[in-house]
Amino acid sequence: MTIDLAALPHDFLWGTATSAYQIEGAVAEDGRSPSIWDTFSHTPGRIANDDHGDVACDHYHRWREDIALMRRLGTNAYRLSIAWPRVVPGGDGPVNAKGLAFYDELIDALLEADITPSVTLYHWDLPQALQDRGGWPERETAEHFAAYAAVVAERLGDRVTHWTTLNEPLCSAWIGHLEGTMAPGWTDLTAAVRASYHLLLAHGLGMQAIRAATPHAQVGIVNNLSTIHAATDRPEDLAAARRMDGHTNRWWLDPVHGRGFPEDMREVYRVDLPEQPGDAAVIGGRLDWLGLNYYFPQTVADDPTAPAPFVRDVRRDGVPRTGMDWEIDASGIEELLLRLTSEYGPRRLYVTENGSSFPDVVRPDGTIDDPERRAYLEGHLAACASAARKGAPLAGYFAWSLLDNFEWAYGYDKRFGLVHVDYATQVRTIKGSGHRYAEIVRDHQGRARKAA
Ligand code: FCB
Repeated sequence: MTIDLAALPHDFLWGTATSAYQIEGAVAEDGRSPSIWDTFSHTPGRIANDDHGDVACDHYHRWREDIALMRRLGTNAYRLSIAWPRVVPGGDGPVNAKGLAFYDELIDALLEADITPSVTLYHWDLPQALQDRGGWPERETAEHFAAYAAVVAERLGDRVTHWTTLNEPLCSAWIGHLEGTMAPGWTDLTAAVRASYHLLLAHGLGMQAIRAATPHAQVGIVNNLSTIHAATDRPEDLAAARRMDGHTNRWWLDPVHGRGFPEDMREVYRVDLPEQPGDAAVIGGRLDWLGLNYYFPQTVADDPTAPAPFVRDVRRDGVPRTGMDWEIDASGIEELLLRLTSEYGPRRLYVTENGSSFPDVVRPDGTIDDPERRAYLEGHLAACASAARKGAPLAGYFAWSLLDNFEWAYGYDKRFGLVHVDYATQVRTIKGSGHRYAEIVRDHQGRARKAA
């Protein structure tokens, strides 16, 4: 597979991504309070094998080793998330100095290793204390998020310039409050729509708070988007695809670009938004960049018996799939990058997550060859480069994930890492895909140096 590396800018960010709850462990250490994911994962039956993040990859203690792994991969960027319950354990109120100190040291070590940190403030781990007061369906949660964002930005903003407010608010709102398979595990459309609103309000208020704390901040939001295709040409299915596009893509993109919430989707949900004067401008504040998490395309059909948006997924036969049973289709990432470019005109785009899970086999000599993950990576990078060649302002790519980790409701069964983790011993081993990524990064950086 050839990747048109010459299409990517010389200062391209080559990164890996993780999130706090998925790797850190140490859930009760140094003043961290429980988040909704601690509660959810300790509720029997919610997670495969009743797994939880109590230890995870023990990154809280092994972060130096993990930075050394990044250096071995040759990556020049790292996308991490900050655990709100470490920094402001009550959700609002007192700041926990030890929690902040952990990230402070981590950022210093990354910079020393010539790795640009890209900091996400919310990757789903809402302090349980705020959930107990109503969580995202309540406006106060957005306000507390902004206060927490200010605390972190004031502390790290002298060194961190690359900020993300929210990771995939779609999952928090739709999967957490409507489908119920992620924390907090609700199935309530009204709560879900209210949560979606307050999440985007939190993004807008958080963006203002970050900029007020640190003038050099480059702030963006990360969405998981999909290409949506209709299963047939029937008008009902075409309308279903339009609704699913609204639910998955436009609901999250239009408001943050100052276009308001899509009218057609308001009619689908029929839930009053908790709008207050001035909110639209806050939510639609200028973005410095847009983050795309891409995993798979979707094909849908009309289904009036399904919950809003009244569609069902259709399985396409003969399409290759990952270990998550997600379709593999690299053309989707190119299509989305080009769509974002033409419809939303971002200053810069980052692929903030992309990757695949397959059952890995550790060979007797301890090595892990993962040709399927390698092919997924190459195919999607080639598609990214092609989008850049066609004009998408792509400035970086972050592979999901640096490490195998706690894959939410799937527990530890699903491995996305470029680096294998033996959970019994916490031994890390770079997989074949990781070595291939390192080679691609080296190749691009070599060209960039020559051109300079
Ligand atoms: C994304 C999440 C990330 C990881 C990948 C596989 O939706 O942002 O934490 O679980 O999926």
